[in-house]
Amino acid sequence: MASTIREISRQDTVSIAELYKQVRARTMQIVAPLEIEDYVIQRAEFMSPPRWHIGHTSWFFETVLQAHKPGYRVYSEDFLFYFNSYYEGFGERIERPKRGTKSRPTVKETVAYRNHIDEQVLSFLQSPASLPNAPTLLSLVRLGLEHEMQHQELLVYDIKHLLCDQFDVLIKPLPHPLTQVEGMAELEGGLFSLGYDHAGVNRSYDFAFDNEKPAHQVLLQDYAIDKALVSNGDFLEFINDGCYQNFRWWFSEGWEAVNREQWRAPLYWELHDGEWMIRDFAGLHLATSKKDEPVSHVSYFEAAAFAKWAGKRLPTEAEWEKAACYDARRNVRTAFPWGDTDPTSGNTNLFENGFWSVAPIGALPEGANAYGCQQMIGDVWEWTTSDYVPYPGFKSEFDEYNDKWFVNQKVLRGGSFATPQLHIRATYRNFFHAHERWMLSGFRCAKDL
Ligand SMILES: [Fe+2]
Repeated sequence: MASTIREISRQDTVSIAELYKQVRARTMQIVAPLEIEDYVIQRAEFMSPPRWHIGHTSWFFETVLQAHKPGYRVYSEDFLFYFNSYYEGFGERIERPKRGTKSRPTVKETVAYRNHIDEQVLSFLQSPASLPNAPTLLSLVRLGLEHEMQHQELLVYDIKHLLCDQFDVLIKPLPHPLTQVEGMAELEGGLFSLGYDHAGVNRSYDFAFDNEKPAHQVLLQDYAIDKALVSNGDFLEFINDGCYQNFRWWFSEGWEAVNREQWRAPLYWELHDGEWMIRDFAGLHLATSKKDEPVSHVSYFEAAAFAKWAGKRLPTEAEWEKAACYDARRNVRTAFPWGDTDPTSGNTNLFENGFWSVAPIGALPEGANAYGCQQMIGDVWEWTTSDYVPYPGFKSEFDEYNDKWFVNQKVLRGGSFATPQLHIRATYRNFFHAHERWMLSGFRCAKDL
């Protein structure tokens, strides 16, 4: 339940064993309000049953045990088959769309498996220095925890798709807007160092995926970027202007998707008696009552069509990252829009806030960057025009994790209200296909100067 979810410390003083316990416990806190029947249902090909997530995240650690714990015996060959996601290197696996077609392993058996893996991992995290390959092992456990946090966010998406307002979770009240956020920030072009640079980061707890590295120079033109995320109110104007019926705003593939899927609004919007309503974890609301909140659950196609209609465009990931990290007045790069301190519930809307929703625009002014852009971290992942491809000089640090997805996907930045605080960075590159919209995706626009 949200009320029991604690913030996980980034401090180096937290041992890897303690961090392991905290992150693993949160997965089970997220699923705690589910009924047993909820755990095994897969409503669509793109989602996974909650039981699968709690087993799969354990399977990931079991692959580490198999490789690094002398004499480790596999828990169950059947579990290896059912809980592998897409890793060719780890053998045969169930096809993704069929994860909800099996009632075994049962939820009880899956939890027992999870507990077994926890005992095994914790027993060898007690004295990691005594193990052969200790540095490799510890970095794999750290990767496993980042992987687990990715699945915590996916669990929120999947539970929303499965139950939405039927999910009986404690929801904290949303904050009110404190400031008006209007207009665009203007940024100078020039060379910008894009990506994660260990030496340049001043943070208490340090991790980055291989796809964020190496930092490298890119040349930007002068540009402007919206200070606020595009809101439901803005998007309602786009809908009411007939834009879902007008090919001129859409990419060819986007227009095909509009017609094939019969899109008329973002996912989770419903038309009741001619009035658009939005369903979320808290219930069904008039879209007009949510007009000051960021729009979410839009595909890249919808974001790009809106931007064209608005006479703007989407930012590149370098433009987004520069706005999120660079303060031209002080000529410094910071870890986050507000500086180098870690995210808090006061300056961002991430998982720990417990809102289970986007926050109104202008509700988190402490998170503003040097140019007045707000909510760059948290609330919704922001679509960029950038293709998800390796940075120049990329070196894979783990086979099949990030490297095999470098084709046909777009980069999203900034995290969402389902992203744990420990998990997010301004250099973090998320990626989805242009048509996908079951994740917490929104956007802000940019334009040339
Ligand atoms: Fe996974």
